[in-house]
Amino acid sequence: MIVNERITAYINTLERELPTHLYELEQTALSEGVPIIKKDTQTFLRFLLASGKPRRILEVGAAVGFSAIFMSEYMPENCRITTIEKVEMRLVKARKNIADASKGDKITLLEGDALVLLKQLAAMEENSFDFIFLDAAKAQYMNFLPELMKLLSKGGLLVTDNVLQDGTVAESRYGITRRDRTIHSRMREYLYTITHMEQLETAVIPVGDGVTVSTKLY
Ligand SMILES: C[S@@+](CC[C@H](N)C(=O)[O-])C[C@H]1O[C@@H](n2cnc3c(N)ncnc32)[C@H](O)[C@@H]1O
Repeated sequence: MIVNERITAYINTLERELPTHLYELEQTALSEGVPIIKKDTQTFLRFLLASGKPRRILEVGAAVGFSAIFMSEYMPENCRITTIEKVEMRLVKARKNIADASKGDKITLLEGDALVLLKQLAAMEENSFDFIFLDAAKAQYMNFLPELMKLLSKGGLLVTDNVLQDGTVAESRYGITRRDRTIHSRMREYLYTITHMEQLETAVIPVGDGVTVSTKLY
């Protein structure tokens, strides 16, 4: 938790309730230990979708499909989502959850490693996504960035989740266990890059596990 627990608990009391099917999906995912977007991140995404009114969303990291199904509830009617997942066990559940939610016409699930799939997509669909939600392996965010920049349209939003890693990203390298040092330095590199790239205007926001919102200026 990166914000005072009491404040987060209070903010959560203000959140709107999820529709029943999403609530059940959320509870199942949490009980199975699937790392899905937190309540305050959900609200933040809902706000971005309502204000930005995207037409094509790309998500990297579908897990069991919760955030994709969530976004499909709050995006404009004519919007479509492409989401990527590579772990077979999660893909099985994502396919089923998307079908059960009757979202097959709105959500396309791409199966495989995002690095490979993003390269293929970028070769075919340059500038075609106006909203990208990056929520996959944190250590790979830097590797994904060049392809995401190609895929993002001018004025589009790149939203990245889990950037503050429970606040540990603010610790000095020496305060981090040896095991987590690589991910710590990679996330710092990612944050430094997206906050200093001329092509992006980025805000780092302490919501959920830390979210950045970047818009592509040109
Ligand atoms: C935090 S979870 C995504 C949660 C989901 N966005 C939600 O809130 O419902 C991250 C997912 O990214 C997937 N992932 C990580 N690296 C990946 C890669 N290189 N290619 C495809 N999927 C990847 C993991 O298997 C995991 O299911």
